[in-house]
Amino acid sequence: MNIFKVKELVKSKLETESSGHDYLHALRVYENAKNLLSDDMDHEVVLVSSLIHDLIDHKLEDKFKVTDLELKKFLESIDLTSHQIEHIFHIIKNISYSKGNIPESLEGKIVQDADRLDALGAIGIARTFSYGGANNRLIYGDTFQKDSVSHFYQKLLKLGDLMNTSQGKTQAEERIKYMKEYLKQLYKEIGEQI
Ligand code: NI
Repeated sequence: MNIFKVKELVKSKLETESSGHDYLHALRVYENAKNLLSDDMDHEVVLVSSLIHDLIDHKLEDKFKVTDLELKKFLESIDLTSHQIEHIFHIIKNISYSKGNIPESLEGKIVQDADRLDALGAIGIARTFSYGGANNRLIYGDTFQKDSVSHFYQKLLKLGDLMNTSQGKTQAEERIKYMKEYLKQLYKEIGEQI
C-alpha cells in the first residue's frame, strides 16, 4: 500500500476546500492517528481512513466529493484487501459527530479520536470560525445560538468526555483547557458573559 498515493488523491480533491475539511485537515488527522497507533491494530486501515475520512462527507460541496465507487476503485488500486476496504468504508461512514456512533473497531476509535482532536485547541478555534464564516454564521450573539462561539458549548467542549482512547482523552483535555482560556479572554474583550 502506497500512502503517498492516498495523500495525492486527498490533496487533488481537497486542496481548495475552505470550510475546514481541507487537505491540511486530513494531514493533521493522519498525524494525530499515527500518534495514537498501537501494535494490536491494522495500521493501514487507520492511516488510510484518517486521510480520506472527509472525502465522502455530506458537509462537503459536491465538487470536492468522491463517490463511493470511485473511492472503492482507488482503494483496490493501492492493493488493499477487500476486507480492509470494507473496514475503511465502515469507519469513514460512521465516525462523524452528527451520527453519534462509537466505532466498534479499535481502528475506527482511533480515527474518530484523531478527527476530534483536530476540532480542539488552537486549530479547533481557527476551524470553528473558518467554518462559521463559510456558512454565514456570526462570531457570537446569534439569538438562535447558531453562531460560532455557541458551537464551542454545543459540541466542542463536550468532546473530552467522548474520546475513545485514554491517550486521546489526555490530549483532548489539554486542548480544551486552552479553549476555555481563549473564551475567558474573548468575554473580557467583548464585555459579555455567556
Ligand atoms: Ni474531519
